[in-house]
Amino acid sequence: MYSKLVEKCRAEIVYANDIDSLEKIRIRYFGKKGELNLLFKSLVKCANEDRIVNGDLINQAKNIILKYLEIKKENIKYQAVESKLLNERIDVSLPGIRSQKNIGNLHPLTQTLQNIENIFVNIGYNVVHGPEIEDEYHNFEALNMPVSHPARAMHDTFYFSDCQYLLRTHTSPVQIRTMEKNVLPIRIICPGRVYRCDYDTTHSPMFHQIEGLYIDKEVTFADLKGTIEEFIKIFFECDEIDIRFRSSYFPFTEPSVEVDIRRECFSNWIEVIGCGMVSHNVLNVVGIPDIYSGFAFGIGVERLTMLRYGISDLRILFENDLRFLRQF
Ligand code: PHE
Repeated sequence: MYSKLVEKCRAEIVYANDIDSLEKIRIRYFGKKGELNLLFKSLVKCANEDRIVNGDLINQAKNIILKYLEIKKENIKYQAVESKLLNERIDVSLPGIRSQKNIGNLHPLTQTLQNIENIFVNIGYNVVHGPEIEDEYHNFEALNMPVSHPARAMHDTFYFSDCQYLLRTHTSPVQIRTMEKNVLPIRIICPGRVYRCDYDTTHSPMFHQIEGLYIDKEVTFADLKGTIEEFIKIFFECDEIDIRFRSSYFPFTEPSVEVDIRRECFSNWIEVIGCGMVSHNVLNVVGIPDIYSGFAFGIGVERLTMLRYGISDLRILFENDLRFLRQF
């Protein structure tokens, strides 16, 4: 056996630590002028019997070396992947690197939405979402507004061709969708876009509402009043805000009130929230037993943003004027 040769080659292979040096070794042994080739050539000079025996031994040596080369090659490839994995490992728990550039900020409406969500999440409400393309049943019918109900006139919206689907006019249909699941008690808020055919300084055809719904045993109007007052104080970060509960009408709450607030004594009152105790008709429609009661409210997100930042025309919120937006 050509054990010396095999041993020499093995030692070289052991020290090769990349594919290039391995290839050089291969050429040194198997290339045209490689050591094994020279050995094979030398067989010509041997006598017949010797040639067969020697040829066999050279072949064995060749196969062993080839095997070493192959194993080492696999090894090097494996090591390369391993070290790549090790070097490129990302620690997802590390804090991100803040961009030094001025990359802008959240739109004032998004800030208000997030503020409101945080306040309610902190007192145990869950955030749920509903579809903006709503069916007539959830937007009106189940909320105690049958087809010819006059309240529908105040909710003129954008209908799809068959009138069965429409752009929701308020977030109240999410109340129905949640109550239909019949998992009680319920304590949710539902932020989202709503649509109506309105356009002036305090109305736009698309605007945002946050619906709130609280259903449990023994929920009273006092709970509603306390929740709303507390919310307004936290939102405006001020205890001295003027709040007025004015009796009103919504087909799906009984009694119903509108909440107005004003920042200064002689300024105008602005209506920001519609609310009331959930009507028993509505609870019946979704199959909630009579021992339960609850309240619902709908917060006008644009209105609250206007009051919070002293904006007099709501439409500026949608004009994308950077001079305006950069102030927030
Ligand atoms: N959905 C009503 C509106 O958009 C507001 C409201 C919500 C009133 C919940 C009462 C209870 O006008």
